[in-house]
Amino acid sequence: MDKIVITGGRKLKGEVTVSGAKNSALPIMAAALLSEEESIIENVPDLRDIQTMAKLMRSLGARVLFENGTLAIKPGRTLKTLAPYKLVSTMRASVCVLGPLIGRMGYAEVSLPGGCVIGPRPIDLHLKGLEALGAHIEIQHGYVNARVKKSLRGAEIYLGGSFGSSVLATGNVMMAAVLAQGKSTIENAACEPEVVDLARFLKKMGARITGEGSPRLEIEGVKKLHGAKTAVISDRIEAGTFIMAAAMTGGDVLVKNVEPSHQNALIDKLRQCGVKIEKGKNTIRVRRNGRLKPVDATTLPYPGFPTDLQAQMMALMAVTPGISVITEKIYPDRFMHVSELNRMGSKIFLEGPSAIVHGVKHLSGAPVMASDLRASAALVIAGLVAEGTTEVHRVYHLDRGYEKIEEKLFALGASIHRDRE
Ligand code: EPZ
Repeated sequence: MDKIVITGGRKLKGEVTVSGAKNSALPIMAAALLSEEESIIENVPDLRDIQTMAKLMRSLGARVLFENGTLAIKPGRTLKTLAPYKLVSTMRASVCVLGPLIGRMGYAEVSLPGGCVIGPRPIDLHLKGLEALGAHIEIQHGYVNARVKKSLRGAEIYLGGSFGSSVLATGNVMMAAVLAQGKSTIENAACEPEVVDLARFLKKMGARITGEGSPRLEIEGVKKLHGAKTAVISDRIEAGTFIMAAAMTGGDVLVKNVEPSHQNALIDKLRQCGVKIEKGKNTIRVRRNGRLKPVDATTLPYPGFPTDLQAQMMALMAVTPGISVITEKIYPDRFMHVSELNRMGSKIFLEGPSAIVHGVKHLSGAPVMASDLRASAALVIAGLVAEGTTEVHRVYHLDRGYEKIEEKLFALGASIHRDRE
């Protein structure tokens, strides 16, 4: 298995271009199933999760071509309706095909995704929303069997759970509602930019949606959708990872192809830490000369601080003099990176859903094991400021969500390479 090898101590300098957002591209790919016509999706990152989704869509009968960041998806007149365990268990976002399959075919058999290293990730909100639209749902042999008797009917749906709104449940239910008869409202809808991007694509396909980006969505069902062309937004989590890497190393980096308004929660925290941030039209310049200052952060649904940047923020706090606290409100068990960061010399103590981080002067390079996508990114950026060499193992997690991260960091002056094994 590949590993990433980093020798710490270099300041990042220069320019880096952010790729398209994986978490926007995946539901948009599923949405393409809502029409029999071809859709074109541009600015798609070449990642393992995208390949997995393409495989799933092909197994459903769609023709999928992926070249130079552009996907062409032609579902055709009928679709198969089975999303098997083998594919869904490797990538939870596969559950996004549930809404489009029910909407178009009136039937779907989708494997339950099961557990996940970042904690329990139920899909009760997805099912609640689809049931409200008239789908009859049974769980049998580890599969969700969803069937619609005549057609889906518009409904008032409340989608709040114990941890707030849900990004993919909002997407799934919205995708089913666009073909339902009559009007639907989704209250406590997720406001993440990826949900807005999905709604934008659905509208290009002929869907009638208002309120995207707010907690209340209104959807007027239509009979049919057509193929459409879109370009996915840039990846705010990849951008945030580079921004933090630049800040940690005391560098000067221009992050390009970024939407600055998506980064407000991170920028607010980093400014409190003493990092200089300048927003451009599609750029963010990050500089730091002085010492980092401690800060507290709590993850929340958008526009709050993203859970997908929690691990990277913890790596930054680990080398910030003083005590910082980071509290995880979306996935209270998403702390697998703590023990690996501590192996690199950080002093992080867990107290329930909070991590108390005592900043240390130096981390020391060590062999470490990535447990999930964002934890891997945290270990890589920790390696950039550690004394000596860090080896990050189980890089396949990183490859699910970061396009050529080692090449991009190398171009910024980091001493980093991939050892292929
Ligand atoms: C999306 O997952 C992202 N994945 C995740 O990114 C991200 O961490 C998460 O949103 C939160 O921002 C994709 O977009 C593919 P949720 P999603 O439903 O939609 C609970 C990454 O690293 N919940 O918004 O599955 C859930 O357990 C990944 O790129 C229910 O209780 O997350 C969590 O506590 C990891 N019932 C909270 O809601 C449900 O039916 C928010 O999760 C669904 C969710």
